[in-house]
Amino acid sequence: MLNILVTGGAGYIGSHTVKILKERGFNPVVYDDLSCGTRASVKGVDFIKGDIGDARKLGRVFAARKFAAVMHFAAFTEVGTSVREPAAYYNNNLTKTITLLDAVRAAGVKYFIFSSSASTYGEPLKNKITESHPQNPVNPYGRTKLMVEQVLKDYDTAYGLKSAVLRYFNACGSDDSGQIGEARKHETHLIPLLMQAASGRRKDIAVFGGDYPTPDGTALRDYVHVNDLARAHILALKRLLKTNKGGDFNLGSGKGYSVKQIIAAARQTSGRDIKIIRSPRRAGDPARLVCDAGKAQKLLGWRALYGLDKIMQTAWNWELKLAGKK
Ligand SMILES: NC(=O)c1ccc[n+]([C@@H]2O[C@H](COP(=O)([O-])OP(=O)(O)OC[C@H]3O[C@@H](n4cnc5c(N)ncnc54)[C@H](O)[C@@H]3O)[C@@H](O)[C@H]2O)c1
Repeated sequence: MLNILVTGGAGYIGSHTVKILKERGFNPVVYDDLSCGTRASVKGVDFIKGDIGDARKLGRVFAARKFAAVMHFAAFTEVGTSVREPAAYYNNNLTKTITLLDAVRAAGVKYFIFSSSASTYGEPLKNKITESHPQNPVNPYGRTKLMVEQVLKDYDTAYGLKSAVLRYFNACGSDDSGQIGEARKHETHLIPLLMQAASGRRKDIAVFGGDYPTPDGTALRDYVHVNDLARAHILALKRLLKTNKGGDFNLGSGKGYSVKQIIAAARQTSGRDIKIIRSPRRAGDPARLVCDAGKAQKLLGWRALYGLDKIMQTAWNWELKLAGKK
């Protein structure tokens, strides 16, 4: 059984990927400092509590067993905080990733899969974003992701470390089992916030901007189910193992839903009213951000399988569990 080191595996997308890795016959080993993730989200899996910036600990982990690949989810993920505290973001997402990469290199691990983001593109110049779209991130978070992408290119050229860079659009939903899901201490994502407002754990939610040049004036985003993202990791891993080829891949559904449409869907799925506070646009929020996932379809055989109904239903089931109502 191939060992896969999963940094940040106790977090939202990492824990869903760990579950699918196990189901597909790999042996995921989670390495997470639990700064955001939880131990409960990776029950029954080898778990090491550690920081990706801890070179000594990483050395011991890589000396203890042979890893076929590393999947690197560990990062700070809040755009707003990255603007206020860029030092923390550059340190955790960039400097510590280089520490991790040097441990990967020293151990002779050949393959690396990196959680990048649509935020590396910045202000979209086209309706649908392909991998050839210019990358001009507009906040420190997006810049940390782009910088790691650039480091990975140089590590491939110089050291032959092959990497798959996966640029997720808006991850959402939760596993059908209801055992794992999205649970941040400071939630900033639209769907879990709406579900919290529907369950009564939150009074209301703010919607930023109603005057965008979109059909209903609210921002359009591409929502992709977390299990679809997890499955893309397995496909990228298999491609690396089989062909020694990595590359960059956009992962999204290819459909744009407006904030208003998502609010309506959340009301419908939960059967509850949700109090909305209308607020002005936030700086740096583009009007639309929709993925062209043609490259992932062509080279990985991947496309998003979960539609909006399933996304909302799994998110609502998970919220009911968190709220203690299920
Ligand atoms: N959620 C999204 O919509 C989205 C979109 C694009 C990209 N991403 C990227 O996907 C990855 C996973 O995101 P998520 O939503 O699951 O976030 P998350 O916060 O749930 O998971 C991140 C995990 O990394 C761990 N971690 C953070 N810093 C660490 C460190 N120094 N050492 C060890 N562990 C550390 C945290 O404890 C947490 O378990 C991140 O790299 C994020 O930037 C997420």
